Amino acid sequence: MDRRKFISSSCISCLGGGLLLSLLESCGSTKIITAAIKDTDMIVLLSDFEIKKSSKKEFKKYLVVQNEILQHPICVYRFDENTYKALLMKCTHQGTELQVFGDKLQCPAHGSEFNNQGKVENGPASDPLRTFPITIEGNQLKISLK
Ligand code: FES
Repeated sequence: MDRRKFISSSCISCLGGGLLLSLLESCGSTKIITAAIKDTDMIVLLSDFEIKKSSKKEFKKYLVVQNEILQHPICVYRFDENTYKALLMKCTHQGTELQVFGDKLQCPAHGSEFNNQGKVENGPASDPLRTFPITIEGNQLKISLK
């Protein structure tokens, strides 16, 4: 194998491995669920936040919640058992769907960044994300879409 072919095949292998790793990491950290909508409320089960890998209860920091009638998913952050925040994953600059990375939502179009309260941390967006009121009833979160 000549030097050029060796370098070319090595780079492709590295890129493939890196891509696979990032896909696996994103699958492990982001939970995407499809939630039902009743009347004007989206219903999320509190148990959807549970991580079922140990005897000790642990919880996901956030879920990405979707439904076919919504144009963009909603990111629901869990701060503690009584405190949640629901943010529309639509950039307030030009409407691109946001990506969630831990406590931040980032826009792939022009780089705007929002925190887990929906506030702008980096422009060009200047307005906060749309939020939705949440009520807790039994084992459910009701996210009001009104
Ligand atoms: S559409 Fe998100 S930063 Fe421009």
